[in-house]
Amino acid sequence: MATAERVVVERATKLYNAGTLNVFSELGLSVRDRETVCVLGPSGCGKTTLLRAMHGLLSLDGGRILIDGTPVRGPRRNVAMVFQHFGLMPWKRVRANVAYGLELAGAAQPTIAERVRRYIDLVGLVGFERAFPHELSGGMQQRVGLARALAMEPDILLMDEPFGSLDAQTREIMQDELLRIYQQDPRTMVFITHSIEEAIALGDRIVVLTARPARVRETLVVDIPRPRTVAGVIAHPRFLELRDHCWRLLRERVAA
Ligand SMILES: Nc1ncnc2c1ncn2[C@@H]1O[C@H](COP(=O)(O)OP(=O)(O)OP(=O)(O)O)[C@@H](O)[C@H]1O
Ligand SMILES: [Mg+2]
Repeated sequence: MATAERVVVERATKLYNAGTLNVFSELGLSVRDRETVCVLGPSGCGKTTLLRAMHGLLSLDGGRILIDGTPVRGPRRNVAMVFQHFGLMPWKRVRANVAYGLELAGAAQPTIAERVRRYIDLVGLVGFERAFPHELSGGMQQRVGLARALAMEPDILLMDEPFGSLDAQTREIMQDELLRIYQQDPRTMVFITHSIEEAIALGDRIVVLTARPARVRETLVVDIPRPRTVAGVIAHPRFLELRDHCWRLLRERVAA
């Protein structure tokens, strides 16, 4: 059967602490080709765990995750992840951190040089190429992590709160950049965030998870047309309805 589904999570179960901590069980979701699915859920409900499982960095205790129809067993060349805590190598300079994935993938030196320059520019870190991570602010380190993933030009991007450490202004600039990149060259994206506004601005759909053990509380379609800008989305008549609906779903959970 032909399917445009790129990432499929089927009845995924993950346990920690010798089975005493049930992070999620029987979790299911899917991401279609060139679709952005934003995942909202309370802290500690298992979002990072789920994303790491999608990237093949940890194994499940039940169910399975398929990418392009085959079970995930380890990181793939066409999939890149932006880590919540940046995942930078402290002993490498910014430039080398951004180049790292491309070098691993065996890209040619001119390609590496060109992409490193382009994505460092995109995330606003020109002038810091030779800095070490500890010489940067948290938001700058996060942008290095983002540049490293984007430089791979992956067709599936797994983003774990990639803008969580940025100040509000930089965050909106990066969101608009991501929307612009998406417009030029749509990728398949799973985007974890704590921000309802961000989920609406970036997502084609929003998956709202419950508290642990996480399950899908509801999946919403963001029926706001593209091309989008953050300002345009916020001004759209559907924005407030979607935002209130997400709030209600997350609040109910808190009350429960
Ligand atoms: N390696 C591990 N060993 C044991 N427990 C873990 C491990 N990693 C995560 N956990 C636990 O699993 C649960 C889910 O963690 P996870 O980091 O996936 O949550 P999250 O939804 O990403 O939270 P946040 O929104 O705060 O980033 C938490 O209770 C956490 O303590
Ligand atoms: Mg997390």
